[in-house]
Amino acid sequence: MSVGAANIGVVGLAVMGANLARNLASREGNTVAVFNRSHGRTEALVNEFPEAGFVPAATYAEFAASLSRPRTAILMVQAGAATDATIDALAEVFEPGDIIVDGGNAYFPDTIRRERALRERGFNFVGVGISGGEEGALNGPSIMPGGSDEAWTTLGPILESIAAVAEGEPCVTHVGHDGAGHFVKMVHNGIEYADMQLIAEAYDLIRRGTGKSPAEIAEIFAEWNTGELESYLVEITAEVLRQVDAETGAPLVDVILDQAGAKGTGAWTVQTALSLGVPVSGIAEATFARSLSSQAAQRQAAQALPGPDESFTVADEAAFIEDVRQALYASKIVAYSQGFDEIRAGAAEYNWNIDLGAVSRLWRAGCIIRAQFLNRIADAFADDEALTLLMAAPYFADALANSQSAWRRVVIAATQAGIPSPAFSSSLAYYDGLRADRLPAALVQGQRDFFGAHTYRRVDREGSFHTLWSGDRTEIQA
Ligand SMILES: NC(=O)c1ccc[n+]([C@@H]2O[C@H](COP(=O)([O-])OP(=O)(O)OC[C@H]3O[C@@H](n4cnc5c(N)ncnc54)[C@H](OP(=O)(O)O)[C@@H]3O)[C@@H](O)[C@H]2O)c1
Repeated sequence: MSVGAANIGVVGLAVMGANLARNLASREGNTVAVFNRSHGRTEALVNEFPEAGFVPAATYAEFAASLSRPRTAILMVQAGAATDATIDALAEVFEPGDIIVDGGNAYFPDTIRRERALRERGFNFVGVGISGGEEGALNGPSIMPGGSDEAWTTLGPILESIAAVAEGEPCVTHVGHDGAGHFVKMVHNGIEYADMQLIAEAYDLIRRGTGKSPAEIAEIFAEWNTGELESYLVEITAEVLRQVDAETGAPLVDVILDQAGAKGTGAWTVQTALSLGVPVSGIAEATFARSLSSQAAQRQAAQALPGPDESFTVADEAAFIEDVRQALYASKIVAYSQGFDEIRAGAAEYNWNIDLGAVSRLWRAGCIIRAQFLNRIADAFADDEALTLLMAAPYFADALANSQSAWRRVVIAATQAGIPSPAFSSSLAYYDGLRADRLPAALVQGQRDFFGAHTYRRVDREGSFHTLWSGDRTEIQA
């Protein structure tokens, strides 16, 4: 088989693939081969952007022939069966040593399975998490690659050339082997769910507590975006709240159906955390909050259930808004702390050597959770690589000390007013749970021993013990 002039190829030319291909083509030294299952998309892309110098292929064989060795192809197709089908087709026309990159939103166990199967056939398979949506794919996403060190040698410079840049550093790091990249991307999305839900709760509390309009609240978010909460999500929140519906003249947020959708990455983050035993309660509540919003029948059935008698009014608006800002910041620290705990636990489980500081740096630009705040996280890991708990790092411990009273006031106010704030309140419960000197888990252990002889450990000596509950209730060593 002949080899061609393109140093990189893209398979799957829907919005993400097309934009990524254009981004690649715009960088010095890249010649980009393009292929899509339905050839019409390939033709449309090539015709629309002649300046990109794309090398179009009508078949997988033609695509392989257009690439120089080692052939490197980035797949941007639907996750799941479509990705497996595309990989199988490429493996037919590629040769050992070639590199197949999955840039879709794959579930990391699939990436581990695919990497193993392809490695046995001599291919390099790299699962790459890409965040930033369409805009990021075109102008510079945040990129989380897994895969082998060998593949990284070829792929690294290419990905570095197209990634977003934060403070002079490309937002891409070889995070670990096989599924590590997709794992980190999954947790990124879980944090994104939490961040979005926290912002939504802040908006809801301010609106219901002060009666301000969405446009007025947009100004509050715009103001917050100039301080420690500066982030893409806070910025776009102001944009969404400002938007007026052309048809009705009402704020757009009031005409959007209040049922949030999800594509599954939040659920994966929570399911994985449950199996790893990592309490990502803020992320879980955010994921469940979307499910709750979509339970139309149950919400209808609950309409008659009573709430608090008194209406919710805030005495000092400015003080309340500042409390909500602090509660948002504190809860956000918890969400990130939980997310990094999950990455640490995943790395231990799957033998990935993940540099958490590097992960925080690659999220500083290009991705949906990009935020000023990630610089502080990067600093915390730079100060202590083996940091056990992000929220206990000096900077964040201080921030939590400053905000915890406001955070409690907000959760109390929300509870009294009957305004759901699952992410705010679960984050606070997590904070109080971790810092508790003694937890009622001791009683749970006693109950477990009572009905299931599950045994317990004692605070005063080593070993496992069981009380003979149905006998004379003496304790024996188990
Ligand atoms: N949209 C985002 O913001 C975003 C962000 C990050 C990551 N991602 C991920 O990036 C990937 C691409 O996303 P997208 O929104 O651009 O497109 P998409 O709608 O997820 O996928 C459409 C693409 O998949 C191809 N495809 C579907 N089934 C196929 C099969 N059996 N064999 C070969 N090709 C097949 C389609 O080809 P045809 O044209 O022939 O149908 C088309 O090129 C996905 O994995 C997505 O999860 C998306």
